[in-house]
Amino acid sequence: MMKMILDLDTGVDDSLALAYAIANPDIEVLGVTGTYGNVTTEQGVRNSLDILHLLEKDSVPVFKGEDHAMDKVVFTRHEVSARIHGENGVGQVTLPPASAKPESTDAIDFIIASCKRWGKELTLVTTGPLTNLATALEKEPEIEHMIGKVIVMGGALTVCGNVSHFAEANISQDPCAARNVFETSMDITMVGLDVTQRSRLDKKATQSWRNLKTISGRLFADMADYYIENTLGTEETFIHDPSAVICAVHPEFFQAFPCFLTVETEGIDRGRVVVDSKKLRASDPTTKACIGVAADLVERELTTTLYGLFKG
Ligand code: BDR
Ligand code: CA
Repeated sequence: MMKMILDLDTGVDDSLALAYAIANPDIEVLGVTGTYGNVTTEQGVRNSLDILHLLEKDSVPVFKGEDHAMDKVVFTRHEVSARIHGENGVGQVTLPPASAKPESTDAIDFIIASCKRWGKELTLVTTGPLTNLATALEKEPEIEHMIGKVIVMGGALTVCGNVSHFAEANISQDPCAARNVFETSMDITMVGLDVTQRSRLDKKATQSWRNLKTISGRLFADMADYYIENTLGTEETFIHDPSAVICAVHPEFFQAFPCFLTVETEGIDRGRVVVDSKKLRASDPTTKACIGVAADLVERELTTTLYGLFKG
């Protein structure tokens, strides 16, 4: 069973990613670490606790992480995030409140301790800015050589960005952190807009969850419908964050291109992920970027797994 930490800025698609991880019998969720992006870290942590409570998984620990980028720029929520995830991050849905509280240890120490404890068995999936992981690496550099796999939802290598012409939302929040992470020797898979925008979640799927007449089916359908209605304005939306978790367990659904990656941290393309031109002649990159996907398989995997979860 894959031991996984999910590092989330818990909005709607992060919640779907968390639910998928909980539902997949091949994944053991060791904990959730909270970051900022779609919402503040505090709200994201609250959302993670409430989602876990809704799924009757209050036993999964939630850890509070950094609340702003490494360069100390104060976090300001992007107007697009507020629109597509709603003010509360979960599509304006009122979730039954969890009584569980975040752990007293912070996200950084939990990531470090988990790397030391589980080593190569550990997979970290990030679906927000990379501040927590970069801060953990700064605090305990040897975890670079301990951790198993890192799957990053973020970036856009072969397509345009979604918050600027070049930058994707998660990377744009903390380009320095993303650069520090990508330039390590960790086994990193980037699951960026190149693939996440090809897979779609539609209202037929959310209606099938609603038809189950369970509380989780109804609330997840409400959250997803809000997100669908406010992203493209059509009957479907992108599958960003769940794609990263699916990639961890089904890498065969994706085509990954091995290359050294880095991130532009200044200028008009701040937040852009690029192939590192300083290393064009270097061999054996440990990073790879997904550039192709069997979208139908990702879509079916997500919607049917969640259907099974919500059915109970
Ligand atoms: C990413 O940005 C956030 O809005 C989503 O949750 C996803 O992680 C997509 O660019
Ligand atoms: Ca996210």
